[in-house]
Amino acid sequence: MHLLTPSLLVAASTLANAASNHTHEWWKEGVVYQVYPASFTESRSNNSIGWGDIKGITSKLGHIQQLGADIVWLSPFYDSPLKDMGYDISNYTSVNEIFGGSLDDIKEFISEVHGRGMRCLFDLVINHSSNQHSWFEDSASSKNSSLRDRYFWREPKMLPNGTMAPPNNWASSNGGSAWHYDNRTGEYYLGLFNDFQPDMNWDDATNRQAIYHDALNYWLDLGIDGFRMDAFSIFSKPEGLPDVPTNETGLQDARPLYNDGPHEHEYLQEMTRECLAGRDTFTVGEYGMSDNMTSVQQYIGASRKEVNSMFLTNMCDIGRDGYMPTAWNLTGWRDAINFTQAAGSRAVGDGWNSVYLENHDLPRSISRFGDDSPQHRVQSGKALSMLLTTLSGTLFVYQGQELGMINVPSNWTIDDYQDANSIKYYDGVVASGGNTSGALYNLTRLARDNARSPFNWDRTGGFSSNSSTWTPAANLDINLADQVNDADSVFSFWTNMIAFRKEHKELFVYGDFEFVDLESENFLVYRKSSGESQAIVVINLSKEEGEPPYEVDAEAKVIAQTHKDCESKSFKPFEGRVYYL
Ligand SMILES: *[C@@H]1O[C@H](CO)[C@@H](O)[C@H](O)[C@H]1NC(C)=O
Ligand SMILES: *[C@@H]1O[C@H](CO)[C@@H](O)[C@H](O)[C@H]1NC(C)=O
Ligand SMILES: *[C@@H]1O[C@H](CO)[C@@H](O)[C@H](O)[C@H]1NC(C)=O
Ligand SMILES: *[C@@H]1O[C@H](CO)[C@@H](O)[C@H](O)[C@H]1NC(C)=O
Ligand SMILES: *[C@@H]1O[C@H](CO)[C@@H](O)[C@H](O)[C@H]1NC(C)=O
Ligand SMILES: *[C@@H]1O[C@H](CO)[C@@H](O)[C@H](O)[C@H]1NC(C)=O
Ligand SMILES: *[C@@H]1O[C@H](CO)[C@@H](O)[C@H](O)[C@H]1NC(C)=O
Ligand SMILES: *[C@@H]1O[C@H](CO)[C@@H](O)[C@H](O)[C@H]1NC(C)=O
Ligand SMILES: *[C@@H]1O[C@H](CO)[C@@H](O)[C@H](O)[C@H]1NC(C)=O
Ligand SMILES: *[C@@H]1O[C@H](CO)[C@@H](O)[C@H](O)[C@H]1NC(C)=O
Ligand SMILES: *[C@@H]1O[C@H](CO)[C@@H](O)[C@H](O)[C@H]1NC(C)=O
Ligand SMILES: *[C@@H]1O[C@H](CO)[C@@H](O)[C@H](O)[C@H]1NC(C)=O
Repeated sequence: MHLLTPSLLVAASTLANAASNHTHEWWKEGVVYQVYPASFTESRSNNSIGWGDIKGITSKLGHIQQLGADIVWLSPFYDSPLKDMGYDISNYTSVNEIFGGSLDDIKEFISEVHGRGMRCLFDLVINHSSNQHSWFEDSASSKNSSLRDRYFWREPKMLPNGTMAPPNNWASSNGGSAWHYDNRTGEYYLGLFNDFQPDMNWDDATNRQAIYHDALNYWLDLGIDGFRMDAFSIFSKPEGLPDVPTNETGLQDARPLYNDGPHEHEYLQEMTRECLAGRDTFTVGEYGMSDNMTSVQQYIGASRKEVNSMFLTNMCDIGRDGYMPTAWNLTGWRDAINFTQAAGSRAVGDGWNSVYLENHDLPRSISRFGDDSPQHRVQSGKALSMLLTTLSGTLFVYQGQELGMINVPSNWTIDDYQDANSIKYYDGVVASGGNTSGALYNLTRLARDNARSPFNWDRTGGFSSNSSTWTPAANLDINLADQVNDADSVFSFWTNMIAFRKEHKELFVYGDFEFVDLESENFLVYRKSSGESQAIVVINLSKEEGEPPYEVDAEAKVIAQTHKDCESKSFKPFEGRVYYL
């Protein structure tokens, strides 16, 4: 049992649970916990290799349950050469040796999850495969391969001077052309992300059936409860793969051509019919930033039967431009929060929102949006927890976020970084004679590695019995053992707030959202309402003590708080309170 901060204990009867306007679903009010298999825990004690494994995850389900999360999302564990940490799959139906290699381990995981009354989601990476998938190898072997059309193959373009060039002007998202020459057949294939991640051709109907069979139905038949879909809005590429229209020479960003592509909605609806219809599942698709509510509702509207929800990165990606930190402020963040909250509002449509600030692609949220210095780390972790647990939508927590884990130390050298993207960025700076210490600084702020250091179970790490782990351990002073029995810890706060959110789900999961202040650069102040019930959330997200820009009714009662004393009008740095009206 966790210890409750006395001041957080609220008599449930004081809050009326008014009827919500949203239909209630397990996947709306459930809290999702994302596990990154490589970095969670390793069960192997004899032949430990310093990587997490499936049995390790199963052994730690008690921790996830203690936190109050009830849906476990596993990042990819499938066969893969791991050039992009498993987001490059070479066989959709098998378990990577590194993670234990055994389907029985996965079956045991599913059955233990269900035995605890929890659910599980797997990661679906079907916008591309690994170039080591047998489908790609067959496809590449000959122009006559029966699997040739599962990928995009095109003849070279011949320039007037007789040299060979890629078929169109599309740039890869990691620099260079999106086309990669393959000398086996003398043609190029499309790999918008990397050469080792060839894009799959979704216009090929037999390809779609093969994907449904291997990547979806295989696992659904084993009893899983849904998927998180990688890059789900770009499966459909424009017919003929035309050049990006431009008057400029050189490679162009083709995202406007293939994001929300021509047959995207058709394919998602087909996937629902072929795989998900008749099953009680949850699907959430990875999107980018958006300011187009029409396009968002076309994916998540319940009546459209495409996906249940999507990840809009508006909140997470403010204040960055690739690997460059940029200025941001609370006014900009309010716009991002307002847009994502509106996406799940009944006033706008019948879609459903997802709430998150961390995942395996993002740095740690305290380092980005709070303050990771020893002075403010714990308090800012609680303030961000209060924000996330009081926003409407399905809540996602990423492993380590519940401990207040922060970015890796600034003394990491490039040899400590493992992510192919981080290394590519650094090498690019070296190649152009740029400032390498500036590049390292930017990596400590924004690299994906920041969220991939092993989960700290105790002061020694407790992640693996091998002292050499695939990515270095970081910040061991932030660990579960030190926090689990400490009522003032970030972990206890998260546990309390998740219980609080569930107890008052009409307000905090399903309720209507509205900012009551639009000016402050230190405070976020918003109202959650459901029928006659109302809560006002006031959070000081700054290092300055001060009074909030909005005066809450004197009759209002504080029902959740980050700091013990909440009599004062003035808020301490990173202090947050939830008032009930
Ligand atoms: C429920 O949603 C409908 C729109 O779908 C709206 O007209 C109505 O006012 C809402 N009711 C409440 C109690 O929010
Ligand atoms: C670990 O190795 C020891 C000694 O070789 C052996 O006795 C034991 O059974 C092994 N344990 C496992 C789980 O393989
Ligand atoms: C994937 O691996 C399984 C088990 O090893 C094997 O039976 C299956 O044929 C493989 N699938 C593909 C498409 O290579
Ligand atoms: C041919 O033309 C292209 C495009 O103008 C140029 O990049 C390339 O260097 C030329 N190749 C030769 C051999 O002249
Ligand atoms: C084709 O390319 C591969 C790898 O890029 C290389 O090892 C091989 O020698 C090439 N073969 C021919 C015939 O050029
Ligand atoms: C998915 O594929 C698209 C197009 O190839 C690419 O832009 C995107 O980055 C890929 N997503 C991931 C997460 O690899
Ligand atoms: C190309 O330039 C012409 C003339 O300046 C202009 O009218 C047109 O809009 C430009 N096209 C694109 C795609 O930028
Ligand atoms: C918003 O998205 C819709 C649907 O994809 C599209 O038709 C519309 O042109 C978009 N609006 C803007 C301003 O881009
Ligand atoms: C906040 O940031 C936006 C850009 O995101 C900028 O336009 C605006 O001027 C900034 N406001 C303040 C008060 O700094
Ligand atoms: C918040 O979003 C709603 C719905 O899109 C919009 O009506 C409202 O004007 C927005 N509020 C602010 C402060 O931007
Ligand atoms: C790097 O910094 C951490 C604390 O941030 C410290 O514990 C560690 O000893 C430092 N490592 C080196 C090699 O200086
Ligand atoms: C690091 O980011 C800053 C912006 O915050 C930028 O000015 C600088 O050029 C970046 N450094 C490198 C080496 O890319």
